[in-house]
Amino acid sequence: KKASGPVSQIECIEFGGWEIDTWYAAPYPEEYSRNRVLYICEFCLKYLNSDYVAWRHKLKCPAKHPPGDEIYRHGSISFFEVDGRKNPVYCQNLCLLAKLFLGSKTLYYDVEPFLFYVLCEYDDLGYHFVGYFSKEKRASSQNNVSCILTLPIHQRKGYGHLLIDFSYLLTRVEEKCGSPEKPLSDMGLVSYRNYWRLVLCKYLIEHVPEDKTQKRGISIRQISDDTGMTPDDVVSALEALRFLVRDPITHAYAFRVDLPYCHKEVGKWEAKNYVRLHPRSLTWTPYI
Ligand code: COA
Ligand code: NA
Repeated sequence: KKASGPVSQIECIEFGGWEIDTWYAAPYPEEYSRNRVLYICEFCLKYLNSDYVAWRHKLKCPAKHPPGDEIYRHGSISFFEVDGRKNPVYCQNLCLLAKLFLGSKTLYYDVEPFLFYVLCEYDDLGYHFVGYFSKEKRASSQNNVSCILTLPIHQRKGYGHLLIDFSYLLTRVEEKCGSPEKPLSDMGLVSYRNYWRLVLCKYLIEHVPEDKTQKRGISIRQISDDTGMTPDDVVSALEALRFLVRDPITHAYAFRVDLPYCHKEVGKWEAKNYVRLHPRSLTWTPYI
């Protein structure tokens, strides 16, 4: 236990009719941290002290979606882009909410340098928060994701994959390559490794000729350009797949793709029928 600062008592949040157990402490103001249950408006993310206050808030809160621009919609899935400078309170509340599920330190108050991409599922009642990632505005940054979260009630349904896929789509539109900010949490790492593995399997299915006598050049640089992954991440993902093997003596790389394995892995993933990204449903120009 830490010697300084109040210890948060918050054990769960009430959010959009769900009760969600929290994983970590978050620096909510002291008068809120004393409660066992914290009430959070699922639309504006305002935190509230009691059942009664939350009920009154719900009657008058006009928000039915995140602030900012809806930059993607396909079926019931939308992404909103929220600027930390234009909507600081929403973004601070979002960071506090995320901190309840993030062990590492994150930002809470200095939200101006970031854009927030919020994934929502739409129904008659509004746009329900599913997850988000934040991203630095700084053009020189190689990080295309700073923090990423799928609310626990929505985890393991492919939304993390969708968020990651979306982050790389933005990176490709920017004609850049990017990588998530390090260190990643354990869950972040397994999710990214799974994503990178699948992206490369799909890519290789499309780009490696089945007929091995036909030698078409395939370079790390080209894969990086086409996927938005950094060359380093491409190499480590190929190594994890054992498609790229470094000879311990000569240090030369051998590149051997197991296409049947790629087909099997992509087939297994697609059979799960998770929501897919439709790049043409994006209406977006990069931040300048
Ligand atoms: N354990 C094992 N494998 C996992 C996993 C876990 N907890 N989470 C994801 N994976 C792997 C699996 O292969 C999974 O496919 P499957 O569920 O069909 O087996 C695949 O990644 C895709 O997972 P997905 O459902 O798309 O991820 P998610 O919506 O659960 O979100 C995170 C992943 C990381 C965003 C989510 O775990 C999260 O918000 N964690 C807390 C915050 C955090 O740690 N963020 C990263 C910090 S940088
Ligand atoms: Na899943």
